Amino acid sequence: MLSKFLLASAATVVALSGLATAQTNITDKDCASASEYSRCNRDVADKWSSCIRGCNGNGNCVVDCGCNSHQQYINCMAESCWNQVYSCKYQLFVQQYFAVCPSAKEPIPFWPAPDNAPNRCSCDLGKVTQTTLSSRNQQIKCMRDVTDKVTGDIGNIPDLSNLNNGLDIANRASDCACCGASASISASWDVCPHTEPTLAGADMWGVFFPSDLPNLYTSLPNWAWSSCDSTLQDTKCKDLGFTDTDKFYKPGDFPNNGTSTLYEVGGTVTAPPSGTVLTWSQASSTYTVTATGYDRKAVASQSEYRATATGTDEAFATQTADSGARAVRNGGLGAVVAGVFAVVML
Ligand SMILES: *[C@@H]1O[C@H](CO)[C@@H](O)[C@H](O)[C@H]1NC(C)=O
Ligand SMILES: *[C@@H]1O[C@H](CO)[C@@H](O)[C@H](O)[C@H]1NC(C)=O
Repeated sequence: MLSKFLLASAATVVALSGLATAQTNITDKDCASASEYSRCNRDVADKWSSCIRGCNGNGNCVVDCGCNSHQQYINCMAESCWNQVYSCKYQLFVQQYFAVCPSAKEPIPFWPAPDNAPNRCSCDLGKVTQTTLSSRNQQIKCMRDVTDKVTGDIGNIPDLSNLNNGLDIANRASDCACCGASASISASWDVCPHTEPTLAGADMWGVFFPSDLPNLYTSLPNWAWSSCDSTLQDTKCKDLGFTDTDKFYKPGDFPNNGTSTLYEVGGTVTAPPSGTVLTWSQASSTYTVTATGYDRKAVASQSEYRATATGTDEAFATQTADSGARAVRNGGLGAVVAGVFAVVML
């Protein structure tokens, strides 16, 4: 699959290179060890830039640099900013990691945040992203089942009159497409009913699974999410394999939009959530990270944040909009990632 990246357009490569400054957006001073954290991030950013320079425009290579750098940023978090790992900004960063790195695989440290985690995001962004990822996988399987059936029919040729006609195939593929999109989009409303849907990941489907993905939508040249009302009417998405979610809202039948922005609730993380030493793996890399700043910041941050951290669980106070969250979806990244995935899936 990686070789497909060789087809990445020059524009995609250039745009991905621009990501090299895309950090976690967490302010150093909020971290258990501010100086360690900024040193660590600076180091990753430098290596990312030189990694990209060494690629000489090779798309595969640039994508690999992005994967590796995101992993290193996660290591910086585990090392010196472990008290912010359940925050909205870290959860958004992991979302970005899945968006830019096709080889990204669960489990990812501190993601999604456990239920009732301290200092967690008011909207469980990890759970929304996870739903999008599983919907994508289920949609691929659903589409593959359609294709396999077609191929199987052709292979047997016992009775040509039984061969599914093009319309049947298109209808079944359309069911897969609508169920996948609905499962992903519905999660934003279902998991985060009080949050502004765009901040809760409502546009993520387009990023993770662009509707113009060539191989999936060959039978569906004019497929559009807005056309799914009638399809979802009759379709039992669960029977088609979409089993990780209960809600399949129709395009014209969504609950009211939440109005809240993203903010942290649930108190303070006072010790490294994974213990002092974290070991985790992605693709062929295994990392062992030792948490620092344990003594220095934990006690201070407890008293520092206690006043603001209590009682916010039920209060959906509107805070200043998190521009970072918007940018992930509305900014150039969405288009870039769509381009990358279009290339990957060819
Ligand atoms: C961080 O903030 C910048 C500027 O708002 C934004 O472009 C980027 O997508 C954000 N990154 C994450 C991971 O939220
Ligand atoms: C609700 O949010 C979605 C996604 O941002 C948006 O497309 C839609 O127009 C909003 N609906 C209303 C009634 O504001």
